[in-house]
Amino acid sequence: MDNCYDDSCKLPDLLEQLPQESFWDKPLYQWDGFWYRAYHLEAAMAFRSQFRPLQDDVFLASPMKTGTTWLKALCFSILQRQLDVDDDDDPIPESQAKKKIVDDEEDPLAKNHPAFYVKTLEVQVFTEKPPPDLSGMKSPRLFHTHLPYSALPDSINKSSNCKIVYIARNPKDTLVSMWHFFNKFRKPEQAPFPFDKAFECFCQGICLFGPFFDHVLQYWRESLKAPNKVLFLKYEDLKRDPKGEIKKLASFLERPFTKDKQVDEVIWRCSLDRLKNLEVNKNGVDPWVGVQNNVYFRAGIVGDWKNMFTAEMSEKLDQITQHKLEGSGLHLDEDT
Ligand code: A3P
Repeated sequence: MDNCYDDSCKLPDLLEQLPQESFWDKPLYQWDGFWYRAYHLEAAMAFRSQFRPLQDDVFLASPMKTGTTWLKALCFSILQRQLDVDDDDDPIPESQAKKKIVDDEEDPLAKNHPAFYVKTLEVQVFTEKPPPDLSGMKSPRLFHTHLPYSALPDSINKSSNCKIVYIARNPKDTLVSMWHFFNKFRKPEQAPFPFDKAFECFCQGICLFGPFFDHVLQYWRESLKAPNKVLFLKYEDLKRDPKGEIKKLASFLERPFTKDKQVDEVIWRCSLDRLKNLEVNKNGVDPWVGVQNNVYFRAGIVGDWKNMFTAEMSEKLDQITQHKLEGSGLHLDEDT
C-alpha cells in the first residue's frame, strides 16, 4: 500500500484495487482503513506528496459534522485578534468608542464563510491542478483537514512542530448532523435518504472519512502522547463551557487571552446565532462543495439525536461506542 503514496500512482488503477461501498448512493473507497470519495482520495494523495509544512503551521482536523465550521471561525478569530484588536482596558473618549467595537464591517467573518479563510486541504486546495501556491500565506498558516491522523503527510505528523487542533462530537449528534447535511445534496424530486440506512452504514464504520471511532481514536491517542502538538476538543465541551474551552484553545495556539472581554468577543463573533444570520451565510454559496453556505449552520443542539433515533438505535450505538472506546480513556457522551 505504501507505494500508492507515490506521485506516479494512477488513481483509476488504485481505485480498482480498493474495497468499495455505497454511501448515500455514491461510491466510497476504502484506503488504508478509511473511506473516501474518489476525488478526496486523489486530493489526499496530492496533499501527502506535495505539501511542505512550515514549523508554525496550524492544522484543524475533524470527522465530518463535528463542529469544523465553528472551530475554523474560532481559530481564525483568535489568530486574527492579536493583529487588529486594541486590548487596552483604559476608558476611552466617547468619540473613539465606536472604533473599539469590532462590528460586522471590520470582521472578515461577516464577509465570507469561515471556510474562505481556513481551507480544507483535500476539498479546497489539493483538488486544484496544479494546487495553488501556499507560500505567500500570512504566518501562522491555518488549514483544515478531514483526513485521519494516519493519512497525514509524515512531514506533519512525524517531523514538524506544527500544531493540530482536533474537534470531536458525540456519535449520535454527528450522525444526525451528517444525515441533514447529505440530504441537501439530493435532487428536489428525491426523498431524504432513509435514516435507518444511514444509521446502519455509520454503525458499520462506513461514512465519508470514517470509520468515525477510528478517526477519533487516532487523534485522541496522539493528543495523549503529544499534548503540546495535538489539542483534542469536544463540541459538547465548547457548548457547555465556551469561555474555558476557548481560553484553552487560545493558549494552545500561543495567543492567550489576557482579559475576559476578549474571550467574550470571540465567543460572540463565532456564535451560531450570529454566523447563521449574516447575509453571506444566509444567501452565499460554497463554490468548492456546491451548496448554500446556510447548510453549515443548522441547529447546533447537543442531544438533537433524540428527534431521530429509536430506543433500539440508541442502545445499539451506545453499545458500539462503549466497545470502541473501552480502555481509551475517551468519553463521547452528550454531557461531557
Ligand atoms: P447540527 O447539524 O447538529 O446543527 P461541521 O462544521 O463540522 O460541518 O459541523 C456542522 C455542525 O456544527 C452543525 O450541527 C452546525 O449547526 C454546527 N455549527 C456550525 N457553526 C456553529 C457555531 N458557530 N457554533 C455551534 N455550532 C455550529
